Amino acid sequence: MAENFYITTPIYYVNDIPHIGHAYTTIACDVIARYKRMKGYNVKFLTGTDEHGQKIQDRAAALNTTPRELVDNIHLNFKRLWKVLNISNDDFIRTTEERHERAVQAVFKKLLDQGDIYKGTYSGYYCVPCETYVAENNIAENKTCPQCGRPLKIVEEESYFFAGSKYVPELIKYYEQNLKAILPEIRYNEIMSFLKGGVHDQSVSRTGVKWGIPVPGDEKHVIYVWFDALINYMAALGYPDTNSEAFKNFWPSVRHMVGKDIIRFHCVTWPLILLALKINLPVEVIAHGWWTCDGEKMSKTRGNVIDPFKMVAEYGLDPFRYFVMREIPFGNDGNFSELALVGRINSDLANDLGNLLNRTLQMINNYCGGVVPECSNSNSDLSAMAQEVLTRVDDAINKYSFDNALKIIWEFISRANKFIDEHTPWVLAKDTSDESKAKLNYVLVNLYETLKLSGLLIAPFMPSTAQRIYSQLGISTAPVEELFKNFEWGKSAGNAIKKSEVLFPRIDVNEWQKARDLKQAEAKKPEEPEHEAEISIDDFRKVELRVAKIISAEEIKKSKKLYKLEVDLGYEKRTVCSGIKNFFKTDELVGKHVILVTNLKPAKLCGIESNGMILAASKKIDGNAEALTLVIPENLENIPLGSRVS
Ligand code: MSP
Repeated sequence: MAENFYITTPIYYVNDIPHIGHAYTTIACDVIARYKRMKGYNVKFLTGTDEHGQKIQDRAAALNTTPRELVDNIHLNFKRLWKVLNISNDDFIRTTEERHERAVQAVFKKLLDQGDIYKGTYSGYYCVPCETYVAENNIAENKTCPQCGRPLKIVEEESYFFAGSKYVPELIKYYEQNLKAILPEIRYNEIMSFLKGGVHDQSVSRTGVKWGIPVPGDEKHVIYVWFDALINYMAALGYPDTNSEAFKNFWPSVRHMVGKDIIRFHCVTWPLILLALKINLPVEVIAHGWWTCDGEKMSKTRGNVIDPFKMVAEYGLDPFRYFVMREIPFGNDGNFSELALVGRINSDLANDLGNLLNRTLQMINNYCGGVVPECSNSNSDLSAMAQEVLTRVDDAINKYSFDNALKIIWEFISRANKFIDEHTPWVLAKDTSDESKAKLNYVLVNLYETLKLSGLLIAPFMPSTAQRIYSQLGISTAPVEELFKNFEWGKSAGNAIKKSEVLFPRIDVNEWQKARDLKQAEAKKPEEPEHEAEISIDDFRKVELRVAKIISAEEIKKSKKLYKLEVDLGYEKRTVCSGIKNFFKTDELVGKHVILVTNLKPAKLCGIESNGMILAASKKIDGNAEALTLVIPENLENIPLGSRVS
């Protein structure tokens, strides 16, 4: 019977577009899932989206849409990314799905019934972006959040509490007996000292938030988004039905991969809930580090957030997957630099792996008519190393040491490149003696087998490259569907190779740098646009745009930004307050034909009712307009006032 293996990513917030951090965790889980499948495990790999809470509610309000519409749209970006990144997840859970909401309410009710959830009052500092209360002793300077640095809000509300603190001694004991339950060690130590410092009961409901799962029997509360989110891991296995096949098979082997910033939720809150439910704790919680970009923290305002879609479009999927797994030791923070990515493409992929394939196939073509020759004994340094490599890679992957696993595979590839130079097959080919012929076959078979095994070993990291290698080696099976245990050295005689295009074309670094400098100079980078959710043509038609003429403009004394404008639509005149004072004098405006949004809800600005909005384009820095121009299409004055713009 195959052993079960259940691996999960965090579920991602849908208030934003996916970035490299999301891609990284998911690729790491994908590598593990693919590797374990190839080791014969029965794998379940889960990912999904975290769709409730204040953040989503606020974002939807800012976009003038409903939370439902927002999450229905944005979660698709994640699904699209996983397709682009060739992620082999078996399931994708959304916290707005019925199966999840049912599981969350079941947990809440059970804990309420057994007295582990009780009602009280909460007052404290709350960080809205992080959706979390911050303990007094953790508050950063100027009452800001220690996690994200943004200002905290004081919140007081009636709340349900989870009496997790009483399970803390049991949790400490569990960790003392399971030293590898939190990886790497630095995170284990961090959690242990946190637990030993004392843990309060946690608030697990909110009254101020509407977008969430209602507390069973007390609907003015919704369940706190983190309490809600963590349960996804069980919901995907059919919880509350703990007798379901999926739950019985996979829950005992559950492993969570997370970023270092969310380990307290996964290594304290979550296991305390599980202890209260009398359900086994995760076998491992593996915490990875954070990516910075060219040495700086990534942020939207800096405009340096790495977009995985872009990276894949520019450098190819497998080089990107390879780079993020190879570049930094898992668990550490690391720096993303495109130059380093180009360096790895040229050296590791094009030079080492690509050349080995190219040279080997070339020689099999030239010396053996494109068919793998017979060789009575192909035992060699390489075949001995192959066994070692399989064991060492297994060990590295079981420790989530992806960079080491790749280093070990590349030592093998480099050894094979050296093997060519040591045995000079081109010299052997010139000698027609039987002895030389046999030696040549021996060399070529060894190289062929090294490539075959390398294809297998890289399959979890670079599935399509592995497939391309297999196809060129003339092997008809798919490497990702192979089992490591079935690999046999020296059993490939007769395979007809199919040499085709090079695996990874080299990138000319000088040309690349020039093109990059040019791009940067041209760009003078507009801020990363805040994309709105997709709308239909019918949605767009709801915006009524018409041609209008400004007939008067006057200052509003109380306002630094606003002018009061009178506009003529032909069929009526209106007052509009417009934030363009810093960019025009009043007399520059009078007589201009402009485009007006005519069906905006009236708004009172500085005591004046504004009935519409004039279209303008602006250059914004840090949210403030630095330059602004009115949208005035050519010859607009020839179009009658009041005409519809579409
Ligand atoms: N919704 C919660 C998780 C709930 S799990 C029950 C959440 N979502 S998130 O979208 O904000 O973050 C998801 C993951 O992305 C986290 O593991 C976080 O560590 C990771 N990353 C976000 N930025 C990152 C980097 N710059 N680098 C690496 N990973 C980072 O938290």
